[in-house]
Amino acid sequence: MKLGTALTASTTKAMLLGSGELGKELVISLQRLGVEVIAVDRYPNAPAHALAHRAYVIDMTDGEALKALIAQEKPHFIIPEIEALATETLAEIEEQNESIIVPNARAIQLTMNREGIRTLAAETLQLPTSNYAFASSFEELKAAVENDGIGYPCFVKPTMSSSGKGQSIVKKFGDLETAWNYAKNSGRVDTGKVIVEGKVDFDFEITLLTVRALNAEGNIQTYFCEPIGHTQENGDYRESWQPQAMTTRAIATAHLIAQKITDAIGGLGLFGVELFVSNDDVWFSEVSPRPHDTGMVTLVTQMQTEFDLHTRAILGLPVNTALKNIGASAVILSPIDASGVSYEGLENALNVPNTDVRLFGKPDAFVNRRMGVTLAIANCADTARNNAVQAANAVVIMTS
Ligand SMILES: Nc1ncnc2c1ncn2[C@@H]1O[C@H](COP(=O)(O)OP(=O)(O)O)[C@@H](O)[C@H]1O
Ligand SMILES: [Mg+2]
Repeated sequence: MKLGTALTASTTKAMLLGSGELGKELVISLQRLGVEVIAVDRYPNAPAHALAHRAYVIDMTDGEALKALIAQEKPHFIIPEIEALATETLAEIEEQNESIIVPNARAIQLTMNREGIRTLAAETLQLPTSNYAFASSFEELKAAVENDGIGYPCFVKPTMSSSGKGQSIVKKFGDLETAWNYAKNSGRVDTGKVIVEGKVDFDFEITLLTVRALNAEGNIQTYFCEPIGHTQENGDYRESWQPQAMTTRAIATAHLIAQKITDAIGGLGLFGVELFVSNDDVWFSEVSPRPHDTGMVTLVTQMQTEFDLHTRAILGLPVNTALKNIGASAVILSPIDASGVSYEGLENALNVPNTDVRLFGKPDAFVNRRMGVTLAIANCADTARNNAVQAANAVVIMTS
């Protein structure tokens, strides 16, 4: 692998589609290797914009706009950070063989729609998942839940959505129609369909960061990070920690599932494989073909963070997934809707032992928007979690 010098004829260029907090850390990892970075988002002054060589604001679901920008910039690598993209355009670009879509265009297409990835995992690969059905009408949804074995409690989700948007848990028939309407109206795009999933009664859930990278022989090898445990509220993560203790059998099964799904997706890069665990049993939930929000904990737990790993894997460089510290992360959510907010209490947060803070610098805050994250290391995951949460609670977001 040869890397060039940014802004010269030898340059190696990467274009990020999505410039949020994960993109921001990815820019830092790419810049550390001298890669020229072009950061794209749908709004100005997104977190990664300030760190990139060039920043653009376009509607990334608009195929023509995306095509024009790619033609103008001619990036070697196109790295999606979000799901809402004109995926057909990415497939066309991939066919022209001028840019590499990370990890590949099919992965982006499969994972942007829950139907694609669930069908691949459960039906083609026969991986264990929750019971599920797709429904195009309330009647179909009702039949799936009441007559076809899904039952209550169940989760109703738009097929195209992320971060818990449009998703609800339904405990009884009386709440099913509300969930149907919510899923139909709050997804990113109305595909006309929802997925309904039986609730998996898990002990804990993990993200298994899985990396497809070249080994010393130049062959693709799969590497696993230590499992990341996390808690979710309303479909959005609140705390994550690494490592999550698991039985020997559960970890072996988790590796097998992650290996199968990432083999089927292909390409080079890091994947966030979401799994539910109960004792020795493991269920596949979903997968992101990119760094995962719960993986921000690796900013303090690994020598190579999930962003470094994605960068190295994409560039064809060797990776090291070893854990360096036990640690945790906790989210800093905005309690208000406001622009240009101020952050107070940072000294209190940073006085909690072995903690660090990342503020994403988002220009606009709204209620429950993730504005930052705290990170903590400790000699056990519980202490790290407590300290990360204490630090996050110490940060006060206010209007200026
Ligand atoms: N079938 C299920 N059984 C149990 N918990 C679930 C199920 N589906 C979703 N959840 C809970 O909701 C969270 C978000 O769901 P997920 O499918 O990952 O949506 P998103 O794509 O928005 O992250 C999961 O991390 C889990 O905590
Ligand atoms: Mg998820």
